[in-house]
Amino acid sequence: MQIRVTKSKQLKPHPQDNELAFGTVFTDHMFNMDYSLEKGWHNPRIEPYGPIQTDPSTMVFHYGQAIFEGLKAFRTKTGEIQLFRPKENFKRFNRSAKAMCIPEFDEALALTALKQLLALEKDWVPKTIGTSLYIRPTIIAMDPFLGVRASHTYRFFIILSPVGAYYKEGFNPVKIWVTKDHVRAVRGGVGHVKTAGNYAASLYAGEEAHRKGFTQVLWLDGVELKYVEEVGSMNIFFVINGELITPMLNGSILSGITRDSVLQLARQWGMQAIERRISIDEVFEAHANGTLTEVFGSGTAAVISPVGLIQYGEKRIEIGNNTVGPVAQKFFNAITDIQYGKTQAPQDWIEKVPVSE
Ligand code: COI
Repeated sequence: MQIRVTKSKQLKPHPQDNELAFGTVFTDHMFNMDYSLEKGWHNPRIEPYGPIQTDPSTMVFHYGQAIFEGLKAFRTKTGEIQLFRPKENFKRFNRSAKAMCIPEFDEALALTALKQLLALEKDWVPKTIGTSLYIRPTIIAMDPFLGVRASHTYRFFIILSPVGAYYKEGFNPVKIWVTKDHVRAVRGGVGHVKTAGNYAASLYAGEEAHRKGFTQVLWLDGVELKYVEEVGSMNIFFVINGELITPMLNGSILSGITRDSVLQLARQWGMQAIERRISIDEVFEAHANGTLTEVFGSGTAAVISPVGLIQYGEKRIEIGNNTVGPVAQKFFNAITDIQYGKTQAPQDWIEKVPVSE
């Protein structure tokens, strides 16, 4: 399928790398593609970034049939632009599509379109280590209709945003709060899907966490409120007795691509990396007996984010004196070195973006 390109007549000023926050600035162009029952996915095009004009009855506004992805493009020290495991993102995007009754798309076309968009926007990829161009592919239901059913029309779009660190703490340890009153997702639901509603469902407790001075919420399982699940914007890892432990994927946890990268690297390094159920009580007991040495999150936006403090009801633990631990540091270095092209990546982890001068 041919991707039509319409260039913007007015280009925006670029922010300085040291001014970059997360998700506040968007580039000059975006990718769009439509779906209808008659035509399937059609009209792939790169156009100026701009508003989507649509009817107030558009289904996505009412019933949240929406999915998204998050991945990043990095600039290497030789000036090349490269993507970190983009095929995994598009694979997961199609799994999300299936779960939300959205028609699947051609992953190869999506990757080609993304590379073409990046080639056009190459000057938006920041240069400083710690910065990148965040990529947000999204699909939304477009029927103007108020009955509850899957939409018959969709918009697929990709927008780009130059970013710095996701958390204001940067790579310094974050504080997380374990809620006893709210759950993010339940097994059999859509917790494993990157769908808008999961993030909407996390907001109420997230606001409470912020009011209490915490960065994020650590979610427990939706049935017993006992087992650790994820942080919402990242998966979670514990180092106990020198072993790396992360909650196993159980249907209500997002299968993070950075999570998978951490597990693969750990196994390559000969480290015990275990996916299993882990209760919040076990975490606190391991802290009490001195075997819990580190906690950190993993995610595309967050990369590797050390956790310095966990509060659960009246109980509060400080991990590793609230400093960055050696295991988190090792994963952070290994992953960012691969992303910025400083070290050789395991097979298929890096996709170069060809750009013409
Ligand atoms: C990501 O890490 O890319 C995410 O999608 C998490 C969050 C920013 C919603």
